[in-house]
Amino acid sequence: MLDEKTDMYIRLYCQGTVALTCEWILGKYKASPEELGKELIMSVAIRYYSRSGNTKEVAEAIAKAAGVSAVSVDAGDAKLSQPVDVLFVGGALYAYGIDSHLKDYLKTLNKNDAKKAVVFSTSWISKHSIDLIKKGLEEAGITVVEESFYVKSKPSEEQLKEAADFARKYI
Ligand SMILES: Cc1cc2nc3c(=O)[nH]c(=O)nc-3n(C[C@H](O)[C@H](O)[C@H](O)COP(=O)(O)O)c2cc1C
Repeated sequence: MLDEKTDMYIRLYCQGTVALTCEWILGKYKASPEELGKELIMSVAIRYYSRSGNTKEVAEAIAKAAGVSAVSVDAGDAKLSQPVDVLFVGGALYAYGIDSHLKDYLKTLNKNDAKKAVVFSTSWISKHSIDLIKKGLEEAGITVVEESFYVKSKPSEEQLKEAADFARKYI
């Protein structure tokens, strides 16, 4: 048996949802189902560049958690077809820099492409790749979340689970 207050909150939540849905159906809120879907469902994209597969593994773990595909920045469909709420961007460090494919991709972005970006990276030792990717995103005018996800070299199964948990905080 629920106490009175809990019962009230549950009814408020459920009936509020039903009432709002009815008002939308009756035309009080002007939005097509597609527009409403866009408003209610968070859109996520994952873009990365990986020479030997380590960063790709992280990208795919994040993609699986988000229910979308991870797309390499040199793929034909790398360009965002529409703005997203969250853009995950990953890359590794090579000779203290990021790969030119990723560098060039970051230059194609602009502030309308994503409400916010989240960075992930792999390397042997240095996390400088994170700074470089963040810098590229910020130069594009995109807000980057402070926290990032990093793995030394090849991710373990445990680290791939951590990548998925990390991603879930932002989706
Ligand atoms: C040519 C080359 C240069 C690298 N330079 C660095 C470096 O300066 N600092 C570092 O910590 N790791 C460096 N690494 C290690 C890579 O960042 C690391 O192996 C990373 O996980 C590779 O990611 P990927 O498999 O997605 O390409 C280098 C690797 C290669 C092959």
